[in-house]
Amino acid sequence: MPQTLSVIKADVGGFVGHSASHEEVLDAGREAMAQAIQSGLLIDAHVSHCGDDMFLIMSHEHGENHEQVHKLAWDTFIAGTEVAKKLHLYGAGQDLLVDAFSGNIRGAGPGSAEMEIEERPSEPVIVLMADKTSAGAFNLPFYKMFADPFNTAGLVIAEPMHDGFAFEVHDVKEHRKIVFNTPEEIYDLLVFIGSPARYALKRVASRQTGEIGAVSSTDKLSLIAGRYVGKDDPAAIVRCQGHFPAVGEVLEAFTTAYIVEGFMRGSHYGPLMPVALRDAHPARFDGPPRLVALGFQIADGKLVGPRDMFDDPSFDNVRQEANNISDILRKHGPFEPHRLPLDEMEYTTMPAVAAKMESRWSPTE
Ligand code: F6R
Ligand code: MG
Ligand code: MG
Repeated sequence: MPQTLSVIKADVGGFVGHSASHEEVLDAGREAMAQAIQSGLLIDAHVSHCGDDMFLIMSHEHGENHEQVHKLAWDTFIAGTEVAKKLHLYGAGQDLLVDAFSGNIRGAGPGSAEMEIEERPSEPVIVLMADKTSAGAFNLPFYKMFADPFNTAGLVIAEPMHDGFAFEVHDVKEHRKIVFNTPEEIYDLLVFIGSPARYALKRVASRQTGEIGAVSSTDKLSLIAGRYVGKDDPAAIVRCQGHFPAVGEVLEAFTTAYIVEGFMRGSHYGPLMPVALRDAHPARFDGPPRLVALGFQIADGKLVGPRDMFDDPSFDNVRQEANNISDILRKHGPFEPHRLPLDEMEYTTMPAVAAKMESRWSPTE
């Protein structure tokens, strides 16, 4: 029986400001998940968080985009929003962009990463949860995991991985997709995914077996709402071992503090800092952007875990690197390349200021 792993996330209110999640909101999520397990809709579930985002990690037998599972997530976020309202948490219901659920959570605000799998005899997976960054933040690390032999030794020396991987890329503005085969098409692939604000990696599959190895959320809040309503704070699921990168090859992709969009007001570049769950509360300049990795073994659909994978001193150097990069970028204040280019900014006073100044411009000599 194929199983589905669904990670659906939303910011339904921050504590304090946009920095973290409140236990009572997470408890509301846990209660809703427990009921859904009891009713038989879900096999298992785990509720977690990164910064001000609540992540629902669910396993079930209903496939991707299943109406009842999506409705469960929506209703859970509504329940969390009620708690957030009661506690006057900041931005209660922030990511719930539509008034009522209408069949699918996509396009309604929350982000989703889902994959249908035939569970292997042993099925290690890692769920990645980010805050203060956007869809596309996984482009570079996914490339490192599945296409870069300097990161993933298995691409060179492990027979099950030697045929490479197929990368599905989404054009988030035009709502279309394309698949590239690696290694032979890496140069073409990189032309697109090197520009993560426009082209986001959605899925990666083994070319030897066709099995899905990784999926990420590509939902762009600003494109859904047509205005700034918060950053996308993406989620991803990565299967490990065997035909896929080993756990250590997946995590190795985060040993450099790659610079991503997000940080303060979703309008700055900042380093992605891999942290243990206890440190997933971005505070300095609302950042730097954070990433948590939860490891599970799936056993007949049950989520055995999680293990907090970045709770490991071998990531101390990348955390130090992230702090050093933050120091350098912050010194740029409102200047690019810390501030995003004009057309990428989530907040801007430019139209209003430009209108006010319009009459004061005169031709240069
Ligand atoms: C970024 C983020 C925060 C807020 C900032 C201002 O994704 O959530 O950096 O943009 O704290 O928040 P508001 O506009 O709600 O006062
Ligand atoms: Mg928020
Ligand atoms: Mg957030």
